[in-house]
Amino acid sequence: MMSMRMGAAPSRPRVHVTGGSGFIGRAVAARLAGEGYEVSASDLHGSEEVAALDLRERAGVIAHIADLAPDIVVHAGAISGTMLAIDDPALMFDVNVAGTLNLVEAMRRAGVPRLVFLSSNAVYAPAPSRAPVSESAALGPSDAYGASKLAAEAVLRCYGESHAISTLALRVSSVFGPGRVTPYLISQTLDALGRRAPLTVTDERSNMRQFIHIDDAVEAVCRAVETEHPGFTPINITGGTYLSEEAIVRILAAGMPDADITVIADRGCDDDGRVGPLDITRAQALLGYVPSIDIAAALADLARAAGAGTSAPDPHAQDTR
Ligand SMILES: NC(=O)c1ccc[n+]([C@@H]2O[C@H](COP(=O)([O-])OP(=O)(O)OC[C@H]3O[C@@H](n4cnc5c(N)ncnc54)[C@H](O)[C@@H]3O)[C@@H](O)[C@H]2O)c1
Repeated sequence: MMSMRMGAAPSRPRVHVTGGSGFIGRAVAARLAGEGYEVSASDLHGSEEVAALDLRERAGVIAHIADLAPDIVVHAGAISGTMLAIDDPALMFDVNVAGTLNLVEAMRRAGVPRLVFLSSNAVYAPAPSRAPVSESAALGPSDAYGASKLAAEAVLRCYGESHAISTLALRVSSVFGPGRVTPYLISQTLDALGRRAPLTVTDERSNMRQFIHIDDAVEAVCRAVETEHPGFTPINITGGTYLSEEAIVRILAAGMPDADITVIADRGCDDDGRVGPLDITRAQALLGYVPSIDIAAALADLARAAGAGTSAPDPHAQDTR
């Protein structure tokens, strides 16, 4: 089990991170440990530093949290996207809803008062316009992933109102950057470019994507760990630019002028295009969070690291800061 004690001051809280072997949980645990927190981590896939723990096993989760007695939990363990359980919605709900219930019930029994939950912009209803989406926008996910996040939020709202466990639920947009292993537009594009395979992308009329770099996502989570706020509070978290799928692919392919790219108006999937850019006013007010990573530059860096491209100016970016 990872338990990093890096000269922690006595007043620094003990933080437990679920999903500690995953893209976000691992980065959050490392950052908090580097800042002097006493950090423990768990995951379905354990390691020398991460305790093996299945969130679906209520008795095990209760025993684990009772044993650690952390001051705060960062809940990043989940089936982290529709694509990971496309034919198994029950798995999605078992892990993301029942797993969250088991965790917060374990916290209630152990007297752990605070949770930072990795929710998602997938909780919002498809929007007819691209107007900015605040936390009070209509909810209504269209897939099992979004439904599981919304159901988990409902559980946490109940524990916030009736059982004194306060939750900051970060409704995060798609996270990109080094270390992400789950498949998504960026890795699939780089993979196709590497294979010299043809690419079909949608244009800006039909599909805008809101990414956030892993460093900004970690910054937001760490600011939430620092922030005490009673009850259940959803907070939108996204990066600074709102890009079309076409613009993203063209940045990734900028170093490959012979790349075979076909642009179409629609390919029948909704991706992030169904929800307008997240309004992060609340994140700025409550957490002091503002995105700092230039998404186009970071995409170009990823392409260079993959040997697929070089930096290019982005003509389609809209500043959403
Ligand atoms: N990556 C994104 O774009 C993104 C965007 C918004 C929200 N989120 C949310 O952030 C959180 C972390 O996402 P990520 O990108 O690090 O995903 P990830 O898939 O890299 O990490 C999730 C971790 O959860 C673990 N896990 C799965 N089932 C488990 C179980 N039954 N018990 C315990 N652990 C289990 C996995 O082993 C994995 O290590 C998730 O809740 C995800 O829904 C991610």
